[in-house]
Amino acid sequence: MNSFYFQNKVLHAESVPVSDLMGAYGSPLYIYSKSQIEFNWQQFEKSFGSHPHLICYAVKANSNLAVLNVLANLGSGFDIVSIGELERVIAAGGNPKKCVFSGVAKTEQAIQKALEYGIYCFNVESVAELDRIESVAASLKMNAPISIRVNPNVDAKTHPYISTGLTENKFGVSVEIALSLYKKTNLSDHLEVFGLDYHIGSQITDISPFLEALDKALELIARLEEEEIYLNHIDIGGGVGVTYDKETPISINDYMHSVIQKVGDLKIMVEPGRSIVGNAGIFVTKVEYLKQNELKSFAIVDGAMNDLLRPALYGSYHQAVTIEDNSKGIKDSWDIVGPVCETADFLAKSRSLTLKQGDYIALMTAGAYGFVLSSNYNSRPRVAEVMVDGSVHQLVRMRETTESLFKNEKILKNETN
Ligand code: LLP
Repeated sequence: MNSFYFQNKVLHAESVPVSDLMGAYGSPLYIYSKSQIEFNWQQFEKSFGSHPHLICYAVKANSNLAVLNVLANLGSGFDIVSIGELERVIAAGGNPKKCVFSGVAKTEQAIQKALEYGIYCFNVESVAELDRIESVAASLKMNAPISIRVNPNVDAKTHPYISTGLTENKFGVSVEIALSLYKKTNLSDHLEVFGLDYHIGSQITDISPFLEALDKALELIARLEEEEIYLNHIDIGGGVGVTYDKETPISINDYMHSVIQKVGDLKIMVEPGRSIVGNAGIFVTKVEYLKQNELKSFAIVDGAMNDLLRPALYGSYHQAVTIEDNSKGIKDSWDIVGPVCETADFLAKSRSLTLKQGDYIALMTAGAYGFVLSSNYNSRPRVAEVMVDGSVHQLVRMRETTESLFKNEKILKNETN
């Protein structure tokens, strides 16, 4: 299924021409497809068959309330990394009892709130964090549900910035430390052993690191059973990589089939983000100027690195297309660059496109880690977000105004006045 497609050389979002959306909501714009989100989530759901499982959508990938609401209505759980994300989930109609709380720096206050909201479990990332959770739970006379995040030291063969399962990364604990944390949890009056989790990285397109990590986790689970410590679930971390350029994604069905074969009756949890929302969103931006010199041709657009950071931060590739047939423009190899005063401010490089001023360019597969990574750098209001459902479309986040950017700021009072 592809909710963004060309019909008569016009890019559509579900059944709506993207140009209609640009006319209605202005530029730049994030556009999401509701049915693509649902379809992607169902791919995970179906792959489990009757095996006990919980899909916990990784909220960090796209935390717009409308997106979370679509997933909550499907019965999804959520992987959160802050109380902000948990409160978004609740505001969007999600169930805190289906939330796992990941992240290396949980504050006392966050732990307390998470316990009060009754989350499914904490994904514990360090010895010190387990101590803190125990003392907060004790002060509330509560029992904290615990999963230990194991760092399996597996190379996910992805971009180093989004590789998380190596000893050199800040995430999780070694197998040996995990073992001691489980023993401690088992003996504690305020901690309860729930599960084991790991996450080795994102945008993974080869199944073998996933299975290698799973094998290491299962070895640890076997050692725990020897100690008579039994888990309710195994959490296999994020989802699979998506197609930005020519990548072939791992089949979710094949992956889950292999996991189910290996884990026996254990409940499986998974925390997909990118593979749920990545291809369910595009970022559309308008050509303000074309500028050519003896070396380069620049399409200067109204969207920038502050709106879509991935190309600047990871050198990521997003396919760039004009939203309508455009034979009257200039055919060239364009660098698509924004208004921000940084050379890193590019959205795409060396793209063969026919362009003229006023054209709209869509950066594809921008639904994950797109808007959420945006900022107000250069005092640029964050852009609007729209969701399409068949032929219906709705604004799901208003475009910010410049006044809203400085509403929390104050000019120093002059003492001498
Ligand atoms: N669970 C945990 C603990 C994670 O840290 C992540 C992503 C996920 C799940 C979701 O992984 P996914 O299914 O999306 O692969 N900003 C980067 C990606 C950072 C991913 C961080 N962790 C990018 O734009 O590529």
